[in-house]
Amino acid sequence: MTAADPRPGPAQTQLPNRMQAFSQAFADFIPTAWAPYPEPAGQPLAAAAWTPQRRRRLRQQFPGERLVAPAGPLKVRSNDTDHRYRPHSAFAHLSGLGTDQEPDAVLVLEPGDDDCRLYFHPRAPRTDPEFYASSRYGEMWVGPRPSLAEMTALTGLPTRDLSQLEEDLDSATPIRVLREADPAVTAAVDRIRGRAEVEADQAWAVACSELRLIKDDFEVAQLEDACAATATAFEAVVAALPQALGGSRGERWLEGVFGLHARHLGNAVGYDSIVAAGDHACTLHWIRNDGDLDRSDLLLLDAGVELDSLYTADVTRSLPLSGRFSPAQRQIYQAVWEAQAAGIAAARPGALFSDVHDAAIAVIAGHLADWGLLPVSLEEALSPDGGQFRRWMAHGTSHHLGLDVHDCAQARQENYRQGRLAPGMVITVEPGLYFKATDLLAPEPFRGVGVRIEDDILITADGNRNLSADLPSLLDQVESWMAEVWQR
Ligand code: GLY
Ligand code: MN
Ligand code: MN
Repeated sequence: MTAADPRPGPAQTQLPNRMQAFSQAFADFIPTAWAPYPEPAGQPLAAAAWTPQRRRRLRQQFPGERLVAPAGPLKVRSNDTDHRYRPHSAFAHLSGLGTDQEPDAVLVLEPGDDDCRLYFHPRAPRTDPEFYASSRYGEMWVGPRPSLAEMTALTGLPTRDLSQLEEDLDSATPIRVLREADPAVTAAVDRIRGRAEVEADQAWAVACSELRLIKDDFEVAQLEDACAATATAFEAVVAALPQALGGSRGERWLEGVFGLHARHLGNAVGYDSIVAAGDHACTLHWIRNDGDLDRSDLLLLDAGVELDSLYTADVTRSLPLSGRFSPAQRQIYQAVWEAQAAGIAAARPGALFSDVHDAAIAVIAGHLADWGLLPVSLEEALSPDGGQFRRWMAHGTSHHLGLDVHDCAQARQENYRQGRLAPGMVITVEPGLYFKATDLLAPEPFRGVGVRIEDDILITADGNRNLSADLPSLLDQVESWMAEVWQR
């Protein structure tokens, strides 16, 4: 069931080969006798109070320039079926728009004091064939789209029709564009400038990423809410475990349970959930999630609810499917828990971002040494020329978290990996140990066991606050929590 997919604009109405043409009689009849659209509600997004200061801070870095932040186009999933729309995170951050708003929109920051414009496809009148014939943009297919006035009421931003964008950009003012957000807008800006100014554009992308290193109070509140929703969804997964254990492809069942709650409480999952039982937990990005569940195994669940504002949590718990850890599982779990505790203790203002990883890794490597698994001394393994412990923990311990699960991805090394932690930053602390079933160095009872514990940590003025602490992570607390959920 699809109608024409006009590209690039909504006004074209080529029909797909399976669809009957619309008659003139239909075109005359369809615009008649509809109730008027309601007046713009005037209720702004909660984020709209925070976006002017974000834009101001960016504008100050590029005086006299025009800065372009596209939301990005719809992306094809298959033939004429698109993925559910999600705007580019920089656009969401600067406009306040979340959920599926707004395909093809472009935010333009002008050099003046909070002078900016939001360009987008406003709702077409019902006399326009888009209304009934466009499955990508038409009201009959995707619901009523906002008018220019409604979008202004929502975001507090002046709005213009997208068709005017290229003409408006075409002036002597220097322009920068987020190149990766929308290839069509990048091409238009390059055309206007007469060349691709990749380095200048990259500096703009870096600034957008670095602006998000420190979250404002609205963002912190969103991340708190995302963690609360994620805790609810984790508990629903625990409640569903007995049913999932009884059927085939239990990992998929649990992925569905988490996804149900993510869609109900928020916008979606913030990334594909990792639902990994037994040896699958040793595949770091196991998202196929098609395995059966065995009561003797651990389940590694790495999942996060993304709210309608698009802020996401990123939490991992490793749960015994029987409700009780085996002795080997306890040993590995306790080592990871201690590593996480060391990492969280190191996550303080003024510390280096890399201190968190170093603290966690020292504990991980220490346990590997105690178990006789390292082929070299502990000191050698921890030296820059060593790293043998990475056989059992190949990933980093932390990343910034926010609108993107791996937030601030374009921030410079000196402000990220080699940078210092500061109040308002939110990072994950997520050490793990993974003993593959095929690992002949691992003691037999360790094989096929993977453990990760991941929490979302807000750096505060005097230390930190664990935003995902509602979910138990101590060994005994995990067991008693699962038993309590199953008794309900
Ligand atoms: N869920 C991906 C990560 O933990 O980074
Ligand atoms: Mn993570
Ligand atoms: Mn994760």
